[in-house]
Amino acid sequence: MLSFSESVAPSPTRSTDSTPPVTVELHRKAVPSLDRLLAKRYVQPLREGGSLPAIVDTDSGLFVTKFRGAGQGPKALVAELIVAGLATALDLPVPEIAIIDIPPPFGRSEPDPEIQDLLRASHGTNFGIRYLDGAFNFELGAAGHLVSTEFATRLVWLDALVTNPDRTHRNPNLLVWERKPWLIDHGAALYAHHDWARVDEERIRAPFGLIADHVLLASSEDPRAVDEECTQRMSEGVVERILRSVPDELLEDERVDPDASRERYASYLHGRLEPPRAFAEGIEEARKRVLEATPRPLSSRR
Ligand SMILES: Nc1ncnc2c1ncn2[C@@H]1O[C@H](COP(=O)(O)OP(=O)(O)O)[C@@H](O)[C@H]1O
Ligand SMILES: [Mg+2]
Repeated sequence: MLSFSESVAPSPTRSTDSTPPVTVELHRKAVPSLDRLLAKRYVQPLREGGSLPAIVDTDSGLFVTKFRGAGQGPKALVAELIVAGLATALDLPVPEIAIIDIPPPFGRSEPDPEIQDLLRASHGTNFGIRYLDGAFNFELGAAGHLVSTEFATRLVWLDALVTNPDRTHRNPNLLVWERKPWLIDHGAALYAHHDWARVDEERIRAPFGLIADHVLLASSEDPRAVDEECTQRMSEGVVERILRSVPDELLEDERVDPDASRERYASYLHGRLEPPRAFAEGIEEARKRVLEATPRPLSSRR
């Protein structure tokens, strides 16, 4: 089993919405442990998204699995793991995550050649997220009332920090399950890692322009309401603990030592978290623009 050091094995699918506020000290320990589960059966592909994830049965039940052999490559899996860890540190609910081990014979009997190829290229370490049975995809008009201002503000802050472009109205990558919003699909975040050579101080510190398209931007409040506290929750080794949970095999194609690779992620994230945080200022500018452009509800017009 892989685990974050000092983890206290909390219930991984627990939503924190209804629990009393925790101190930062307590919360630091509440980073989820990360199990390594054996894939037993390919259940069903999920064809909505581009990466052809699938529901896979494991020795711990059904997990949506993102395959290392998919076109997006292992870095998408690294982003999934890191952002899920950061979200959890902010008390944003993510379904339980795990490493899914695909043994070589797995999927040989799959009739679809595209799926067979994908599985053949994915033996070993893959990313899994607990399948939420009965969940549906979030849509602002239908489920906006299930999202609090605080949730929206923290989520926008997180997505701007990690440069996540995949939380738009068309593609919100939020699930509604048991009347609560859950975060999924962070494979496109941290795009800087696709070309570390071009990542200089200026790029690290840059705001995230695509935050203007965020599905919850207009539902959020001034990010200064959460900025200090969210930054605080990422301090004192939280980032390092999350990075230690990323398996070496997913960092290998870097052609650098896995620890050197972790170090690059750490300095990138710490650099973005250094004040003044341009990404947070960028949120506020985009938020003002979107609020100015949004017509006020009829009830507030006189
Ligand atoms: N944990 C989950 N539980 C239930 N359904 C899920 C879960 N994760 C993903 N899905 C469903 O599968 C779809 C594709 O998954 P996603 O992670 O968004 O992959 P992609 O990178 O292909 O967009 C989602 O839009 C959602 O409908
Ligand atoms: Mg998606």
